[in-house]
Amino acid sequence: MLENVQGRNIVLGVSGGIAAYKSVELCRRLVDAGAYVAPIMTEDAHRFIGPVTLSALASEPVHTSLWDDASPIPHTRLGQNADVIVVAPATARVIAAYAMGLSHDVLVATLIATRAPVVLCPAMHTEMWEHPSVQHNIEILRSRGVIIVEPQSGRLAGGDIGTGRLADTDSIASAIDSALAASHDLAGLSVLVTAGGTREPIDAVRVIANRSSGKQGYAIAENAARRGATVTLVTTIDRPTFASITVIPVETADDMLHAVTCHSDSSDVIVMSAAVADFRPVLRSAGKIKKADGVPEIVLEKTPDILAGLGARKREGQILVGFAAETDDLLVHAQDKLVRKNLDLIVANDVSAEGVGFSHDTNAVTILGASGVLQTVALTDKHHIAAAVLDSVVELRSNHSPHK
Ligand code: PMT
Repeated sequence: MLENVQGRNIVLGVSGGIAAYKSVELCRRLVDAGAYVAPIMTEDAHRFIGPVTLSALASEPVHTSLWDDASPIPHTRLGQNADVIVVAPATARVIAAYAMGLSHDVLVATLIATRAPVVLCPAMHTEMWEHPSVQHNIEILRSRGVIIVEPQSGRLAGGDIGTGRLADTDSIASAIDSALAASHDLAGLSVLVTAGGTREPIDAVRVIANRSSGKQGYAIAENAARRGATVTLVTTIDRPTFASITVIPVETADDMLHAVTCHSDSSDVIVMSAAVADFRPVLRSAGKIKKADGVPEIVLEKTPDILAGLGARKREGQILVGFAAETDDLLVHAQDKLVRKNLDLIVANDVSAEGVGFSHDTNAVTILGASGVLQTVALTDKHHIAAAVLDSVVELRSNHSPHK
């Protein structure tokens, strides 16, 4: 039963393998379930099925080329509009090109031009499927969050028997359905995220800052947007992001406090991943402090604890997520912050560990809730950490649901 397909935009990519004929049945199944299906065929796919077949069954004519399409940039339109992209069958060549970012045909260009979930269904001979290069590319794609529907064992082209047969249509359709369900599990919610490190001025040119790059906060904001939330991002870092995200640039802890306070009451979920400075200079010199005047004595004071303030006035049903950046006794300190700041979840990262925390593309976290450790996520891309954090939010909401 396809419950999440109705009204959704699905790009169906077909590459050149004997299993291409099965994409016809998949296309029909998706259209019958109410999806809008935009088909793409590689040049090699034409050797196995005719484009007319897919054009007739899908919701729009098949796309076969970057150059002969009605749209001058078909890949960006297809990629940006897609709720999910499925490639069935995916050949070793398409898998390799996608893993390497070689956008030389309309299918791979579309895969690279999307932020939608991708479901990849490999099909090839056993020797090819087991080849280290194919497995390596599959692992690269898996680590980026691509959903792989593993090939099955059975009869292959030429009468051989082994692993490499395209997964059956039921399995592929159900993977698409799950990807769509997961991809919109925050629909209707307002999510407020903070990112980056605040900068506290010492004088007209100098600041007290920290190493936060904003990558973790942006990844959370983007994952929430992808999952259907209305997202506001309060950030000290200027990075390109989705047009749908409302970005509020800030600099100091006070700026962040103000921006967060303005939006907190209307937010269902608040994720404080920013590294807010704990201290700031009591006095800010209006001009540049002169070296010739000697080494200045800078007296510090505490900044407002934004998260503790949010915890103190948390409204019914609102979910408050904090981060804990620690260098020792990770779980003890994180647990303490969870309780002291009245949080629902805390994401603890040991920022002294290799590849973890500030500035890296990767992170490793333990997510704690009221009942203790909920999830430990080993070193991985910050986008995966973002997905895990929001999965915990969704789980928490479903546990609190009155219908439970
Ligand atoms: O930005 P990246 O380079 O991707 O790095 C990600 C990160 C390391 C910044 C992120 O993973 C992280 O750990 N963020 C929290 C950093 C932090 O300030 O931790 P903390 O343990 O000092 O603070 C605990 C919580 O209180 C945090 O949610 C923080 O946002 C909040 N806080 C802290 C101080 C303050 N004055 N106000 C606050 O709201």
